[in-house]
Order: sequence, then C-alpha cells, then structure tokens
Amino acid sequence: MKKVILDCDPGHDDAFGIMLAVRHLEVLGITTIGGNCTLDKVTVNALKVLEVLERSDIPVYPGHSCPMVAPLVTAPQFHGVSGMDGPVLPEPEVQAQKKHAVDYMIETVMNTEDVTLIATGPLTNIAAAINREPRIVERVKELSIMGGSVTYGNWTPAAEFNIFVDPEAAYRVFNSGMHVKMSGVNLTRQCCLTAEHIGKFREIGTKAANLAADLTEFFLDSTVKSAALSGANMHDACAVAWIINPDLIKAADMHIDIELKGELTRGMTVCDYRHLRGTDPMVDLCRVPTMEARGKQPNAEAALELDFDGFLNLLYGTLKSYN
Ligand code: RIB
Ligand code: CA
Repeated sequence: MKKVILDCDPGHDDAFGIMLAVRHLEVLGITTIGGNCTLDKVTVNALKVLEVLERSDIPVYPGHSCPMVAPLVTAPQFHGVSGMDGPVLPEPEVQAQKKHAVDYMIETVMNTEDVTLIATGPLTNIAAAINREPRIVERVKELSIMGGSVTYGNWTPAAEFNIFVDPEAAYRVFNSGMHVKMSGVNLTRQCCLTAEHIGKFREIGTKAANLAADLTEFFLDSTVKSAALSGANMHDACAVAWIINPDLIKAADMHIDIELKGELTRGMTVCDYRHLRGTDPMVDLCRVPTMEARGKQPNAEAALELDFDGFLNLLYGTLKSYN
C-alpha cells in the first residue's frame, strides 16, 4: 500500500477523501490546516470522521491556523459554522496530537521512504515544511493536491478556494521542485454528486455510507444555495482517488505558476499548455500531447478528465467495506 500523509481542512469533501484514503492507502497520519473552517474545528472534524471509520488509531496533527501572509478566509456558506455541518456526530474520544503538523510531516518524510503527500486544503503546512526542511522535496514520492484550475476558478472567476486562501504557500510549493499532481476545479466539477447518489449511500447502509449521505445532503443544499450548482462537487476525493487508482484521471504535464499580485487574478493557477498541439485545447489536452517545449518546463501534472463511473465504483465499494 502507498504510504501517505493527508493534509486537510474537513470539510465535507475532505471527509470523503479521508474515507477513501483510510481504506486504500497506508495513512501514516492526518494533518490539519485552517481553511474551510478554523483549525480547531477542522481538527475535531477529522477526529470525528476517523471515529466513524473505527480508525482512531490514525494520529491527527494540527498545523497552521492561518495562511503565510493573507488573513484566513473560511467557507461557512458551503461547510457551515462547524466546518462539517449536517452529520450529527459525538465529540471525539481521541485527542489530537500535541506535535505540530509541520514537525510531524518533516520527521516522517525524512525517516520514511516513498511517502506521498496529499493536500486537500490550503498549502500552508506543505510550504512551511519545505521552508523548514528543503530536503523533503527530493524525498517526497509525489504531492497530490486538490486546488487551482486549468480553466475557471470557484472562489473568484480566476482562483480556486484552496489556492486563493494562501497563494504565497501555493507559489512556494509549485516553485519548489516537488512533483505536483493538481486536481483543479476544472476536474473536480466532474465529480458531482446528487440525490441519486445519496439514495445509493442510504441503500449501502453502513456507518460510513450514512455519513457520506449526511455529508452530501448538507453539501448539496449549501452548494445549490450558495453557488447555484446542480450537485455537490466532491473536490478533495479526486485528489485521493488519483493516488489510489491513477487510471481514473487523464492528465497533461504543464508548467503551472501562481498569480500573487493581480487585483482580479490573485490566487490563479496560471497553466501553460501552449506546448500541447490542437485547435481545441481542452479536447486535445486529453489526446497525444506533443511536448514541444514552448514555455517553461512542466512542473506539474494537471488533471483534465475524470472517469466518474470508475470513481463511483471505487466510492461505493469503499463505503460497503466499512462497518
Ligand atoms: O475549492 C474546493 C476546495 O476548497 C476543497 O478542498 C474544499 O474542501 C475547500 O477546502
Ligand atoms: Ca478541503
């Protein structure tokens, strides 16, 4: 099994990422970051999800409570005041670890071979770990993030929430040399759950499946009300699923950088895919790319196309496998 550290800000869709990761990957630890909600609340939410999964043995390490430079922006209109409104879950019996997430991340990567990092919130912890111990860049097997976009944003027309919250951290990560697999909102909007999927979760009937149903019910309602979308996009689950089964996502190598100064574009992931041949870039990106270098050398893989049926099969099988 692939060894991973999951850095997250649960978060309804982060919770789906945890459910997938715990079943299919060797989760060495979970680290938390202020994002969807304040650090204290997202940390409790991570502990709550692990208790539902009967995996409270997995340690949870709180990280940074705010971005490197900008003030923290949260998303209560999507995730509620608790950061994971909807499911009614008991207070966790297990406490979070006292060690800081960044210390844990550095120690683990420096002493364990082939660790994959998965980040489904703002990249503050990852950037801080790179700043503190640059050698982790070469030691980390790969970094899979939910963040950014090859096309439009969601928090602003140009920027996706995780990158918008801490663009300085994202800039550090994308310019560090670490291999980044980016599941941007252009991809994650293809992972769109509706009432039909809630019904399937209820049929499965395990504790995890009922948690999935409760999470989706709230997230679907908040998403429709706040973003006038037709379904609940389980963004973070895509970044985890890509590590579990790489065949689920078609991607293209490209150079990605982060806009820090733009009045309208701060937090935008500026993706250079000029080297990919074709008239319709979003179509030809999925075909045979020509790697005639035009701009800077690629520093990332950008996810473009999700096998949604394949994702659902993975998700349903995972939910069935829990008690
Ligand atoms: O833009 C979507 C991302 O922001 C997801 O990670 C969601 O959990 C929020 O953190
Ligand atoms: Ca998240």
